[in-house]
Amino acid sequence: MNEKIAIVTGANSGIGKETTRALLREKYRVVMVCRNRDKAESARDELIHDTGNEKADILLCNLDEMKNVVRTADKIKETYPRLDRLVNNAGILPNGKRSETDEGLEYTFAVNHMAYFLMTRELLPLLKSTSRSRIINVASDAHQGGEFNPQNIQLEKGYSAMKAYGNSKLFNIMFTRQLAKEIRNTDVTTYSLHPGVVNTNFASDSNSWFAKLFNIGKIFMLSPEKGAKTSIYLSTEEGIENNSGSYFKNSKPRKPGIRDAHNDEACRKLWNISEELAHEVLNKPALA
Ligand SMILES: NC(=O)c1ccc[n+]([C@@H]2O[C@H](COP(=O)([O-])OP(=O)(O)OC[C@H]3O[C@@H](n4cnc5c(N)ncnc54)[C@H](OP(=O)(O)O)[C@@H]3O)[C@@H](O)[C@H]2O)c1
Repeated sequence: MNEKIAIVTGANSGIGKETTRALLREKYRVVMVCRNRDKAESARDELIHDTGNEKADILLCNLDEMKNVVRTADKIKETYPRLDRLVNNAGILPNGKRSETDEGLEYTFAVNHMAYFLMTRELLPLLKSTSRSRIINVASDAHQGGEFNPQNIQLEKGYSAMKAYGNSKLFNIMFTRQLAKEIRNTDVTTYSLHPGVVNTNFASDSNSWFAKLFNIGKIFMLSPEKGAKTSIYLSTEEGIENNSGSYFKNSKPRKPGIRDAHNDEACRKLWNISEELAHEVLNKPALA
């Protein structure tokens, strides 16, 4: 069976849904990793109807729990013989008040960074066994409002929704840069990207002032189809492998806006901190 297989997280809505649509049109089997069954099934029905490709599978996973991420990656490894594309796309704009997951991670950090990190780490063996596979991490120009402070990585001090989001999107870019180094002697490559400012469901669950502003501006934003263009380019364009580790905008490599994003020492440090946190969280006994 030589069909190409892609995983897209957050595939039921916005940029993830349009990326899934494009991959189905390219005849991929797409595994839609979503947290809500009804939304996932409704998106799958629409995508199958529009593309004529029935190879859209659903895997339910709430990515805010790292144990779920590992279980989902295990299911993927048991079910599928190869993995050509992993698109880490699911993300949130958080609330104005800091909160933690049941595993004790700051919520935005968990969904927007740690889930990308762990899903990738767990699926690397499958990606490595597939020729010319790629990992695509949806980041954002909002990284310019972020900072890498190893002493305050989960914003115990000075939390704001904008800061938590900006940091998480900076970490997507730093993670991609370090990942490219970790996999440089393999056939796997990786890219991060800014999709543009896109009219999706993004920010609709957040009560922060930034979300309110974002929602007011929605009529001026790109359509999800246009916003998915760089994700689709990185998933389908031939011959981009020399740019592994780079940040893309408008389907072109761009230098990220702040120094931490291309500071090799900081990127390595973020990687090590993420490994340590993953180890801690995954080995913590479940609450009774
Ligand atoms: N829209 C923009 O202007 C913009 C700009 C820059 C970057 N981005 C990035 O683009 C990516 C996609 O966002 P979007 O604009 O397409 O927003 P969206 O329409 O809200 O889609 C986000 C997707 O992520 C899923 N998701 C959120 N939390 C999850 C969790 N805990 N577990 C599993 N799935 C979860 C959502 O599921 P539900 O439908 O169940 O909530 C949805 O499928 C994000 O990483 C975002 O940071 C967006």
